[in-house]
Amino acid sequence: MSTVRGRRSLSAAVITLSDKASAGLRADASGPVLKELLAAAGFTVGEPVVISDDQALIEHTLAELADRGDVDLILTTGGTGLAPRDRTPEATMAMADRLVPGVAEAMRAASLSVTPQAMLSRAVAAVRKKTLIINMPGSPKACREHFAVIAPVLDHAIETVRGEAFECAPEDRG
Ligand code: MTE
Repeated sequence: MSTVRGRRSLSAAVITLSDKASAGLRADASGPVLKELLAAAGFTVGEPVVISDDQALIEHTLAELADRGDVDLILTTGGTGLAPRDRTPEATMAMADRLVPGVAEAMRAASLSVTPQAMLSRAVAAVRKKTLIINMPGSPKACREHFAVIAPVLDHAIETVRGEAFECAPEDRG
């Protein structure tokens, strides 16, 4: 099992939302990218789960993974845009205990310097029980750009969700 900065190992899951990939009509390009990025960041991560854009199925899959109790982070890819079947943010919000707006704001803000189309992603981030869930767009390029934004805060975010970090930057407090 890998460790991150000497702490308990972190585990992640990747869900790819795509009607076409789930039907075998095209390869899942973004899921493997997220898996590779997570592994390089020290996460234990399995093969991406590839499912259709059906909202009930997305909700069920998110809940199943989060409620296992051993998944610290779920990254989803796809289904954040404006297409009629794009329902990933709705499914994530429906399963959320708490939203984490700053994560989505930061991803969108950084992405706007890359492409104006960034404003078309409705991605959200949320906490369900002890699992952090973060939506990302469907393109591998967008996944890499989004991951670069969240990577610096993942360790602390997960510690906090787990209840293992009780103070943020105590040296900065008066
Ligand atoms: N954000 C970044 N950083 N890079 C990108 O290439 N693509 C945008 C946007 N966000 C993009 C991005 C595009 S083209 C769309 S339509 C939306 O994400 C939603 O993508 P999705 O429907 O695949 O989830």
